[in-house]
Amino acid sequence: MKKLIVANWKLNPESLREAKEILAPVKRAAARFGKVETVICPPAVFLLAQGQLKKPQGLSLGGQDAFWEPTGAFTGQISAVMLRKAGAKYVILGHSERRAFGDSDEVINWKVKAALRAGLKIILCVGETARDHEGHYLKVIKHQLEQNLKQISRGYFQDIIIAYEPVWAIGAAAKSSDTPDAFHQQSIYIRKVLSAMAGKEQAMRTSILYGGSVNVKNAEAFLREGAADGLLVGRASLRPDHFIQILKIANAVA
Ligand code: PGA
Repeated sequence: MKKLIVANWKLNPESLREAKEILAPVKRAAARFGKVETVICPPAVFLLAQGQLKKPQGLSLGGQDAFWEPTGAFTGQISAVMLRKAGAKYVILGHSERRAFGDSDEVINWKVKAALRAGLKIILCVGETARDHEGHYLKVIKHQLEQNLKQISRGYFQDIIIAYEPVWAIGAAAKSSDTPDAFHQQSIYIRKVLSAMAGKEQAMRTSILYGGSVNVKNAEAFLREGAADGLLVGRASLRPDHFIQILKIANAVA
Protein backbone atom coordinates (compact mmCIF):
# COMPACT_ATOMS: atom_id res chain seq x y z
CA MET A 1 0.00 0.00 0.00
CA LYS A 2 1.13 3.56 -0.74
CA LYS A 3 2.62 5.42 2.22
CA LEU A 4 1.05 8.73 3.09
CA ILE A 5 3.59 11.42 3.97
CA VAL A 6 2.03 14.64 5.19
CA ALA A 7 3.91 17.93 5.56
CA ASN A 8 2.50 20.25 8.20
CA TRP A 9 4.13 23.61 7.54
CA LYS A 10 2.29 25.21 10.48
CA LEU A 11 2.83 29.01 10.56
CA ASN A 12 5.64 28.95 7.98
CA PRO A 13 7.11 30.38 5.80
CA GLU A 14 6.58 34.16 5.76
CA SER A 15 6.05 34.68 2.04
CA LEU A 16 4.65 33.01 -1.04
CA ARG A 17 8.08 33.27 -2.63
CA GLU A 18 9.59 31.16 0.15
CA ALA A 19 6.65 28.76 0.02
CA LYS A 20 7.35 28.21 -3.67
CA GLU A 21 11.03 27.62 -2.92
CA ILE A 22 10.14 24.84 -0.52
CA LEU A 23 7.50 23.34 -2.76
CA ALA A 24 9.35 23.32 -6.09
CA PRO A 25 12.01 20.67 -5.27
CA VAL A 26 9.47 18.60 -3.31
CA LYS A 27 7.16 18.62 -6.32
CA ARG A 28 9.91 17.44 -8.62
CA ALA A 29 10.89 14.67 -6.21
CA ALA A 30 7.33 13.55 -5.46
CA ALA A 31 6.84 12.81 -9.15
CA ARG A 32 9.58 10.15 -8.89
CA PHE A 33 8.19 8.34 -5.86
CA GLY A 34 5.26 6.35 -7.17
CA LYS A 35 4.66 4.46 -3.93
CA VAL A 36 4.11 7.57 -1.86
CA GLU A 37 1.16 9.93 -1.58
CA THR A 38 2.63 13.29 -0.57
CA VAL A 39 0.39 15.87 1.05
CA ILE A 40 1.59 19.43 1.62
CA CYS A 41 -0.39 21.44 4.17
CA PRO A 42 0.71 25.07 3.83
CA PRO A 43 -0.88 28.06 5.55
CA ALA A 44 -4.22 28.72 3.84
CA VAL A 45 -3.02 32.00 2.25
CA PHE A 46 -0.57 30.03 0.11
CA LEU A 47 -3.00 27.29 -0.74
CA LEU A 48 -4.82 29.08 -3.52
CA ALA A 49 -1.64 29.93 -5.44
CA GLN A 50 -0.32 26.41 -4.99
CA GLY A 51 -3.70 24.80 -5.62
CA GLN A 52 -3.71 26.25 -9.09
CA LEU A 53 -0.26 24.91 -9.92
CA LYS A 54 0.06 21.80 -11.96
CA LYS A 55 0.83 19.06 -9.50
CA PRO A 56 2.42 15.73 -10.30
CA GLN A 57 0.42 12.62 -9.61
CA GLY A 58 0.86 11.57 -6.02
CA LEU A 59 1.13 15.11 -4.65
CA SER A 60 -1.85 16.82 -3.05
CA LEU A 61 -2.52 19.81 -0.86
CA GLY A 62 -4.23 20.03 2.48
CA GLY A 63 -5.44 22.59 4.99
CA GLN A 64 -4.25 22.77 8.60
CA ASP A 65 -7.70 23.41 10.06
CA ALA A 66 -11.21 24.26 8.81
CA PHE A 67 -14.24 26.04 10.20
CA TRP A 68 -17.50 24.12 10.32
CA GLU A 69 -19.82 26.61 8.60
CA PRO A 70 -19.40 26.91 4.82
CA THR A 71 -19.88 30.71 4.62
CA GLY A 72 -21.27 33.52 6.77
CA ALA A 73 -20.45 36.15 9.35
CA PHE A 74 -17.45 34.43 10.95
CA THR A 75 -14.56 36.88 10.82
CA GLY A 76 -11.18 35.27 10.46
CA GLN A 77 -12.40 31.77 9.68
CA ILE A 78 -11.74 29.60 6.63
CA SER A 79 -14.26 26.91 5.76
CA ALA A 80 -13.76 23.35 4.60
CA VAL A 81 -15.67 24.21 1.42
CA MET A 82 -13.25 27.08 0.70
CA LEU A 83 -10.27 24.81 1.22
CA ARG A 84 -11.73 22.24 -1.15
CA LYS A 85 -12.40 24.88 -3.80
CA ALA A 86 -8.90 26.33 -3.35
CA GLY A 87 -7.43 22.97 -4.32
CA ALA A 88 -7.11 21.05 -1.06
CA LYS A 89 -7.87 17.35 -0.97
CA TYR A 90 -7.07 16.84 2.71
CA VAL A 91 -7.41 18.74 5.96
CA ILE A 92 -5.65 18.24 9.28
CA LEU A 93 -8.13 18.47 12.16
CA GLY A 94 -7.65 18.20 15.90
CA HIS A 95 -3.95 19.01 15.83
CA SER A 96 -2.69 19.45 19.38
CA GLU A 97 -1.74 23.05 18.63
CA ARG A 98 -5.37 23.76 17.64
CA ARG A 99 -6.61 21.88 20.69
CA ALA A 100 -4.33 24.11 22.79
CA PHE A 101 -6.03 27.15 21.23
CA GLY A 102 -9.34 25.87 22.53
CA ASP A 103 -10.75 23.41 19.99
CA SER A 104 -12.80 21.07 22.18
CA ASP A 105 -13.61 17.51 21.18
CA GLU A 106 -17.09 18.70 20.23
CA VAL A 107 -15.79 21.50 18.01
CA ILE A 108 -13.43 19.06 16.30
CA ASN A 109 -16.41 16.78 15.69
CA TRP A 110 -18.30 19.63 13.96
CA LYS A 111 -15.23 20.35 11.86
CA VAL A 112 -14.82 16.70 10.90
CA LYS A 113 -18.45 16.50 9.79
CA ALA A 114 -18.23 19.74 7.78
CA ALA A 115 -14.99 18.71 6.10
CA LEU A 116 -16.37 15.30 5.13
CA ARG A 117 -19.46 17.01 3.69
CA ALA A 118 -17.16 19.32 1.72
CA GLY A 119 -15.47 16.27 0.19
CA LEU A 120 -12.16 16.53 2.02
CA LYS A 121 -10.19 13.65 3.44
CA ILE A 122 -9.60 14.11 7.14
CA ILE A 123 -6.28 13.69 8.91
CA LEU A 124 -7.48 13.51 12.50
CA CYS A 125 -4.75 14.02 15.09
CA VAL A 126 -5.04 12.29 18.42
CA GLY A 127 -2.55 11.80 21.21
CA GLU A 128 -1.93 12.16 24.90
CA THR A 129 -0.10 15.05 26.55
CA ALA A 130 1.73 12.76 28.96
CA ARG A 131 2.34 9.03 29.13
CA ASP A 132 1.79 7.12 32.36
CA HIS A 133 2.92 3.61 33.14
CA GLU A 134 -0.57 2.44 34.10
CA GLY A 135 -1.84 3.08 30.59
CA HIS A 136 -4.42 5.72 31.49
CA TYR A 137 -3.29 7.70 28.48
CA LEU A 138 -5.01 5.13 26.28
CA LYS A 139 -8.31 6.40 27.64
CA VAL A 140 -7.41 9.86 26.34
CA ILE A 141 -6.88 8.49 22.85
CA LYS A 142 -10.12 6.48 23.00
CA HIS A 143 -12.07 9.49 24.22
CA GLN A 144 -10.70 11.70 21.44
CA LEU A 145 -11.53 9.15 18.75
CA GLU A 146 -15.03 8.51 20.07
CA GLN A 147 -15.88 12.18 20.54
CA ASN A 148 -14.22 13.54 17.42
CA LEU A 149 -15.80 10.88 15.20
CA LYS A 150 -19.18 10.84 16.92
CA GLN A 151 -22.25 10.28 14.71
CA ILE A 152 -20.24 9.79 11.58
CA SER A 153 -21.75 7.17 9.35
CA ARG A 154 -19.62 4.18 8.51
CA GLY A 155 -19.42 5.02 4.84
CA TYR A 156 -17.41 8.14 5.62
CA PHE A 157 -14.68 6.28 7.47
CA GLN A 158 -12.92 5.56 4.20
CA ASP A 159 -12.11 9.29 4.07
CA ILE A 160 -10.65 9.38 7.57
CA ILE A 161 -6.97 8.99 8.38
CA ILE A 162 -5.72 8.95 11.95
CA ALA A 163 -2.46 10.62 12.91
CA TYR A 164 -1.22 9.43 16.27
CA GLU A 165 0.86 12.27 17.68
CA PRO A 166 1.83 12.11 21.33
CA VAL A 167 1.87 15.79 22.30
CA TRP A 168 5.06 15.41 24.34
CA ALA A 169 6.90 14.33 21.17
CA ILE A 170 5.85 17.32 19.02
CA GLY A 171 7.91 20.39 18.22
CA ALA A 172 11.26 21.88 19.09
CA ALA A 173 10.69 21.54 22.85
CA ALA A 174 10.19 17.76 22.61
CA LYS A 175 12.96 15.67 24.12
CA SER A 176 12.39 12.76 21.77
CA SER A 177 9.99 11.08 19.39
CA ASP A 178 7.95 8.07 20.46
CA THR A 179 9.49 4.66 19.75
CA PRO A 180 8.41 2.64 16.71
CA ASP A 181 7.48 -0.20 19.02
CA ALA A 182 5.22 1.93 21.20
CA PHE A 183 3.66 3.46 18.09
CA HIS A 184 2.87 -0.02 16.84
CA GLN A 185 1.09 -0.83 20.11
CA GLN A 186 -0.89 2.42 19.94
CA SER A 187 -1.93 1.75 16.37
CA ILE A 188 -3.28 -1.68 17.34
CA TYR A 189 -5.23 -0.02 20.12
CA ILE A 190 -6.54 2.71 17.78
CA ARG A 191 -7.76 0.03 15.34
CA LYS A 192 -9.55 -1.69 18.19
CA VAL A 193 -11.38 1.53 19.07
CA LEU A 194 -12.18 2.22 15.41
CA SER A 195 -13.40 -1.29 14.94
CA ALA A 196 -16.15 -0.74 17.53
CA MET A 197 -17.19 2.38 15.63
CA ALA A 198 -16.88 1.42 11.98
CA GLY A 199 -16.41 -2.36 11.89
CA LYS A 200 -13.30 -4.48 11.86
CA GLU A 201 -12.78 -4.45 8.12
CA GLN A 202 -12.79 -0.67 7.92
CA ALA A 203 -10.61 -0.38 11.02
CA MET A 204 -7.98 -2.61 9.39
CA ARG A 205 -8.07 -0.48 6.24
CA THR A 206 -7.81 2.91 7.99
CA SER A 207 -4.41 4.51 7.59
CA ILE A 208 -2.68 5.32 10.85
CA LEU A 209 0.20 7.77 10.68
CA TYR A 210 2.86 8.58 13.23
CA GLY A 211 3.73 12.21 14.00
CA GLY A 212 6.02 13.93 16.50
CA SER A 213 9.67 14.75 15.81
CA VAL A 214 9.83 12.69 12.64
CA ASN A 215 13.16 13.18 10.91
CA VAL A 216 15.46 11.62 8.35
CA LYS A 217 16.98 9.35 11.02
CA ASN A 218 13.82 7.86 12.54
CA ALA A 219 11.42 7.80 9.56
CA GLU A 220 12.42 4.35 8.37
CA ALA A 221 12.00 2.72 11.77
CA PHE A 222 8.47 4.11 12.18
CA LEU A 223 7.51 2.86 8.74
CA ARG A 224 9.19 -0.54 9.06
CA GLU A 225 9.24 -1.67 12.68
CA GLY A 226 6.37 0.58 13.65
CA ALA A 227 4.39 -0.50 10.56
CA ALA A 228 3.10 3.06 10.19
CA ASP A 229 0.94 3.70 7.12
CA GLY A 230 2.62 7.07 6.85
CA LEU A 231 4.05 10.03 8.71
CA LEU A 232 2.96 13.52 9.70
CA VAL A 233 6.03 15.71 9.52
CA GLY A 234 6.39 19.19 11.03
CA ARG A 235 9.83 20.80 11.25
CA ALA A 236 11.54 18.42 8.82
CA SER A 237 8.96 19.26 6.14
CA LEU A 238 10.28 22.83 5.89
CA ARG A 239 13.68 21.53 4.81
CA PRO A 240 13.17 20.27 1.26
CA ASP A 241 16.37 18.18 1.36
CA HIS A 242 15.23 16.44 4.56
CA PHE A 243 11.63 16.04 3.46
CA ILE A 244 12.64 14.58 0.09
CA GLN A 245 14.88 12.12 1.92
CA ILE A 246 11.86 11.05 4.01
CA LEU A 247 9.81 10.59 0.83
CA LYS A 248 12.61 8.47 -0.61
CA ILE A 249 12.70 6.29 2.51
CA ALA A 250 8.91 5.85 2.40
CA ASN A 251 9.06 4.90 -1.25
CA ALA A 252 11.65 2.23 -0.51
CA VAL A 253 9.65 0.80 2.41
CA ALA A 254 6.26 0.75 0.64
P1 PGA B 1 7.24 18.09 14.49
O1 PGA B 1 5.67 18.42 14.37
O2 PGA B 1 7.57 17.12 13.40
O3 PGA B 1 7.93 19.42 14.30
O4 PGA B 1 7.45 17.53 15.85
C1 PGA B 1 4.75 17.42 14.07
C2 PGA B 1 3.36 17.93 14.09
O5 PGA B 1 3.05 18.79 14.93
O6 PGA B 1 2.52 17.52 13.29
